[in-house]
Amino acid sequence: MSTTPLSVAVIGAGMAGTTHANAWRQVGTVFDLGLPPVRLHTIADAYLPFAEDAAQRYGYERAVDDWRVVAEDPDIDIVSIVVGNALHREIAEALIRAGKHVLCEKPLAD
Ligand SMILES: NC(=O)c1ccc[n+]([C@@H]2O[C@H](COP(=O)([O-])OP(=O)(O)OC[C@H]3O[C@@H](n4cnc5c(N)ncnc54)[C@H](O)[C@@H]3O)[C@@H](O)[C@H]2O)c1
Repeated sequence: MSTTPLSVAVIGAGMAGTTHANAWRQVGTVFDLGLPPVRLHTIADAYLPFAEDAAQRYGYERAVDDWRVVAEDPDIDIVSIVVGNALHREIAEALIRAGKHVLCEKPLAD
């Protein structure tokens, strides 16, 4: 089992985004798969107070107001996309181009 942490970010800190933020804290307790530790890295929301509140509430290191900061950060491995449906495609494509693993909320695109 790797002991190198995987760094996670969540884009969108609304109703479903905060659920993702909380779920990432517990992923290692749900599946007995020998997962590496998870580093709770960044929450991004266009409305910064939402990102800050979620980061503080769920123990993430950083809050930002632009998802591009997540795409450009080489330290981030995995990203939950939890914004409105019309934004999914642009963000998912940029993250994949940047080499991130992506978990995108449904629907994947309009
Ligand atoms: N799987 C499920 O059961 C389930 C349930 C609810 C919602 N969803 C999905 O989750 C997604 C989000 O839904 P929600 O109910 O949390 O919406 P929401 O409106 O509560 O939250 C969306 C958040 O995205 C932020 N945002 C808007 N534009 C942004 C941008 N350009 N960059 C960063 N952040 C931005 C908003 O400020 C808001 O905080 C949708 O795709 C929805 O279909 C899935």
